[in-house]
Amino acid sequence: MGRCDGGGRTTAGYGRRKRADFNEAMTFQQYLDAKRTVDDRALNRRVLARFQRELPDTARLLEIGAGIGTMIERLHSWDCLPKQVQYTALDIDPRNIEFARERLRERGFKQLGSELRFERSDQSITIRFEVADAVAFTRRTNRRWDALIGHAVADLFDLGSALPAFLSVLEPGGLCYFPITFDGGTTFHPSHELDERVERQYHQHMDTGAGSSEAGRRLLAEFRERETTVLAAGSSDWLVYPENGSYAADEGMFLRYILGTIEGVLGDRVETDDEFSDWLAARHRQIEDGELTYIAHQFDVLAKMP
Ligand SMILES: C[S@@+](CC[C@H](N)C(=O)[O-])C[C@H]1O[C@@H](n2cnc3c(N)ncnc32)[C@H](O)[C@@H]1O
Repeated sequence: MGRCDGGGRTTAGYGRRKRADFNEAMTFQQYLDAKRTVDDRALNRRVLARFQRELPDTARLLEIGAGIGTMIERLHSWDCLPKQVQYTALDIDPRNIEFARERLRERGFKQLGSELRFERSDQSITIRFEVADAVAFTRRTNRRWDALIGHAVADLFDLGSALPAFLSVLEPGGLCYFPITFDGGTTFHPSHELDERVERQYHQHMDTGAGSSEAGRRLLAEFRERETTVLAAGSSDWLVYPENGSYAADEGMFLRYILGTIEGVLGDRVETDDEFSDWLAARHRQIEDGELTYIAHQFDVLAKMP
């Protein structure tokens, strides 16, 4: 499970009950919505500009783990997309796809059968949706794309086996763009004596499934081992900080969700470990008081097929 793969649920204890109520009130889709401004700030503009420059005027794009469609919305509203775009947005969770449809309709895309369309005199964007596992889908499809995008998802996959499947759907010269790829750094400030332990166990948990807490550097190594050229790479750390005691947009909620995720993955310990429970309670208090800063270390990577 990656760091944003759904929040944890908590059960008992003073302070914990309050968080459980909060987590039940906040859905994964609301979390993805709250995450948008954090990603907007974090995205490495140099890597994004290169991606934009490399895209052909008529481009077929496949986004895996597209969530509620915030990357489409961003690329569209930041004017990063070329003139003619066929965009395939894929996610394993049908609820995300439903939210994506609704979100994009609200932002001016028109429903055309099962697709969405945006038309301007100089631009046409068509979006098609797929509910599927990204690896299974890319292994079985005969379709080809000019670029594959995986925003904040690379840490969820076993890159050694998934990346060949992802690359196999790209045309010669096709692009592979993985922004917001986690790379082994979770920092909270003010510091707490338990931070190191929490970070270690949190990252160990990411490493127990298919994913990796060091996905950023692994991705670079995987690209090197294949016949791809890394065109650009750069940091895209999440940095969430309070200003005059409060957070921008919905970023306080975003922080609570991150704590819920940590609580969920270290859940067994919460029941038995008062120290961890105190750590969580202190972190939630600091959000309440507008004192907590959170940093997640991440990369954006853009590679090109031969
Ligand atoms: C961390 S979220 C990122 C969502 C979106 N890219 C964003 O940044 O807002 C990870 C997304 O990947 C999706 N996902 C997880 N495993 C997947 C898989 N095997 N195939 C396709 N999508 C997957 C989840 O449903 C979720 O929407």
